[in-house]
Amino acid sequence: MSPHASDDDVAPRPTAPAAAPAPALDPYPHLHLRPSSGWVNDPNGFLRHHGRWHLFYQLNPHSPRHADIHWGHASSTDLVRWEHEPVALAPRPDGPDANGCWSGTAVVVDDVPVLAYTAVRTRPESAGVVLATPDDPADPHLAAWTAEDDVVCPMPADAGLFEIRDPFFVTLGGHRWALQAGRTVEDTPVVRVFLVDDLHDWQDAGTLLAGTGTDDPWAPGHMWECPQLVRVDGAWVLVVSRWRLGPSGASDAVLGPVAAIVGDVHLGAVGTPGGGPRFRPRTSVLLDDGPDFYAPQALVEPDRVVLVGWTWEHRDAAEVDAAGWAGALTFPRELGVRDGHVLSWPAREVEALRGERLGAGTDVRVAAAAFEVLDEELASATGTGTELVLALDGPQGARVVWRSAGTGPVRVLVDGSVVEAFVDGRAHTVRAYPRPGETWHVRAAAPVVVHALRLPG
Ligand code: FRU
Repeated sequence: MSPHASDDDVAPRPTAPAAAPAPALDPYPHLHLRPSSGWVNDPNGFLRHHGRWHLFYQLNPHSPRHADIHWGHASSTDLVRWEHEPVALAPRPDGPDANGCWSGTAVVVDDVPVLAYTAVRTRPESAGVVLATPDDPADPHLAAWTAEDDVVCPMPADAGLFEIRDPFFVTLGGHRWALQAGRTVEDTPVVRVFLVDDLHDWQDAGTLLAGTGTDDPWAPGHMWECPQLVRVDGAWVLVVSRWRLGPSGASDAVLGPVAAIVGDVHLGAVGTPGGGPRFRPRTSVLLDDGPDFYAPQALVEPDRVVLVGWTWEHRDAAEVDAAGWAGALTFPRELGVRDGHVLSWPAREVEALRGERLGAGTDVRVAAAAFEVLDEELASATGTGTELVLALDGPQGARVVWRSAGTGPVRVLVDGSVVEAFVDGRAHTVRAYPRPGETWHVRAAAPVVVHALRLPG
């Protein structure tokens, strides 16, 4: 992110409005990707082009509230040092996206990255999907993007469906498909699927998977946002972000958690109207069982699936307004499937953040704002884990932030207010804001090692 990113190797470029100096009173987190001010939600358009990672995200550059959504953009050669790029997409007053450029994805076609996003003309309905391409595909930073004027996939004619959004591309049976989230008038979730071998010709291929509502066995909820279908360790995994109506309806919807469903894909009759792939669930787990993780975006690489999520603020709106920023993207993770269940852990690149050893033992107080806790046995690769309590200690006593039952190797990454804990592939993201006078405290049944986290030199 810009306060730490090096611009040494590139010519000066326009600074993204989102990369304003951080308010001095609210220093955290430093290592997670976020602009210094404004609002962030879902990661979008995750892609790799000519060896450089590009990650976009839902951004309101003007205030720390969800409104007037743009696409922020950052790039990196190593997944840990991020450079802010100029804002990639902005609502156009007379365009199909006049009310926001909502979530979407990317695909690289003939060496040219293409973004596909949800253009919101008026709420509650979107206009449909709009494509955008870089002005100069040879620019390593892909610094400038132009969105097309027309919608490539309008809202379906089916009056029983609404809130169709969040395109995501997947290749199945030699064809390119796009998924989109949707909700029925009965308030049940659907994942719609479109045949998009030609990105300008979206053919409706029906419903990949429909949910039954809050009693759904795989992913209870009224809608599944940001559906992602990826192949992990030879299994098909459908990731959906569970959305539920609140007491007053959609205006106070409850977000999360995120389900990772393993299942079988049946291809169907490609090219016949409404005939397309169908997904049959077999197992389902929470991709992250913490309270502050949502709307992840996956990128399929030749050797792995990398995934980044959104972690929101878990503090009062007044504190958020005073801070001037809200939301961050998680550290990148990798997905795996073991015994039919989806697991995740920090991407291997995150190890580059491991700095000097700060302490070890069963009772460690940590003065640093960013640090990593590993159980010692994990460090020697033989571990079965330890019971562990991560707390904030201060004049008013101790606040427990996270507790591990000791059911597998433990790794905890703390960066200011963002805590990402992993126990044997089970992730838990939670926000905790150190108050003045409070310090981090790790207590464990077996010895742990604590290292500082810092950007590599
Ligand atoms: C998920 C989500 C998406 C939508 C976007 C709007 O958090 O609600 O469904 O496209 O955020 O910012």
